[in-house]
Amino acid sequence: MSAAALRVGLVGVGSRAYIGRLVGDHSDARLVVAADPRPAAAERARELFGADIAFTTDYRTLADTGLDAAIVTVPDDAHADVAEFLLRSGIAVYLEKPLATTMAAADRILTAAFESGSKLYVGHNMRHMSVVRMLRDIIGRGEIGEVKAIWCRHFVGNGGDYYFKDWHAERSRVNSLLLQKGAHDIDVIHWLAGAYTTEVTAMGDLMVYGDVDSRRDNSDRLLDDWFSHDNWPPQAQTDLNPVIDVEDISLVHMRLANGVLASYEQCHFTPDYWRNYTVIGTRGRAENFGDSAGGVIRVWNRRHEYQLEGDIEYTIDGDVEGHGGADELTMGEFIRFVRSGGATDTSPVAARQAVATGIMAAESLRDGSTPRVIPPVPDEVLRYFDDHQTPQSAPR
Ligand SMILES: NC(=O)c1ccc[n+]([C@@H]2O[C@H](COP(=O)([O-])OP(=O)(O)OC[C@H]3O[C@@H](n4cnc5c(N)ncnc54)[C@H](O)[C@@H]3O)[C@@H](O)[C@H]2O)c1
Repeated sequence: MSAAALRVGLVGVGSRAYIGRLVGDHSDARLVVAADPRPAAAERARELFGADIAFTTDYRTLADTGLDAAIVTVPDDAHADVAEFLLRSGIAVYLEKPLATTMAAADRILTAAFESGSKLYVGHNMRHMSVVRMLRDIIGRGEIGEVKAIWCRHFVGNGGDYYFKDWHAERSRVNSLLLQKGAHDIDVIHWLAGAYTTEVTAMGDLMVYGDVDSRRDNSDRLLDDWFSHDNWPPQAQTDLNPVIDVEDISLVHMRLANGVLASYEQCHFTPDYWRNYTVIGTRGRAENFGDSAGGVIRVWNRRHEYQLEGDIEYTIDGDVEGHGGADELTMGEFIRFVRSGGATDTSPVAARQAVATGIMAAESLRDGSTPRVIPPVPDEVLRYFDDHQTPQSAPR
């Protein structure tokens, strides 16, 4: 690749498209074109990226524009078609999580990267969040001994606005919110534990939003047009998506390849919005309170009765409001990876294992909580990513 600035495109100029602006932080890369069939998307592209941005309604025309890389921020059910096309056109891809909504689509994307040799990077930005990296460091320093259990409670306080007013509410578009939202945390659980899930069982329900009668097709609008903390309580929500058939509460149990037992609980009608991880090892326990700047991680490593403060307390720094700073680090890692290759902290194989767990968990919860085994990644694909990116046969 020449020393000239990387030419980067962006496909899907919706809510998440703002991450395309982060390309501008890098002197060796330039966002040159955006693609989206939505009528209002050209104007949004100019607002986000400036008047000079080229625009097309058909992402397939990007194959002829000499792009080095593309950021893909289309809805989940379009990930596979768009990513496969770009990869097979020789364009490196930053693909938003979740990797895909079905096992076949997930494996199709990995296979396209393997067969084309084009670089694939999945935007699991939580791997760059301070709270996650600090928990990993605590584990790495041996402060809680050998990890045996990880429990994640996910309070999705913005759930009504984020997930029940557009395509996110439809099984046909996302499969389940265990992929759509949970893929982040399942991936973090795998990363903290150092192993992938092999067996999963789950329970869940649509408890609240299915009963709300106020419905509207919001495809003419984006999240910012309706988001407000005043939309409370959940039953008073208005303008929900016409179809709602995903669960708004789910509980998942996972057995990992190294024996770690994990759980993930996701609820979309809590008042507060954050994630709480508890990691229990053979010599202690770590837990976060708040998951961004100003929150803390506490470690208990002596015996106690109830003791809120912990034996050690670490202040979480870095990320303002969730994954603010993490997005910048994630984009920086992608640009460096496209330019120079080498190891990355995010991992396409890990992204596949996260959605595989979510997909199998959704199957389980819709089939009487019967256990599901996670299908393995094909050997040749695993070897390819082990050899060409970070070794990923186990999450490191
Ligand atoms: N990593 C994170 O923290 C994070 C946060 C938010 C969203 N996301 C992911 O980003 C993706 C986009 O989410 P969003 O909230 O921006 O959705 P959105 O609905 O706001 O925007 C999606 C855009 O993609 C466009 N689109 C659809 N099909 C297309 C196609 N074939 N070609 C080009 N454009 C197409 C739509 O017209 C729309 O403008 C999702 O996969 C979501 O999971 C990730």
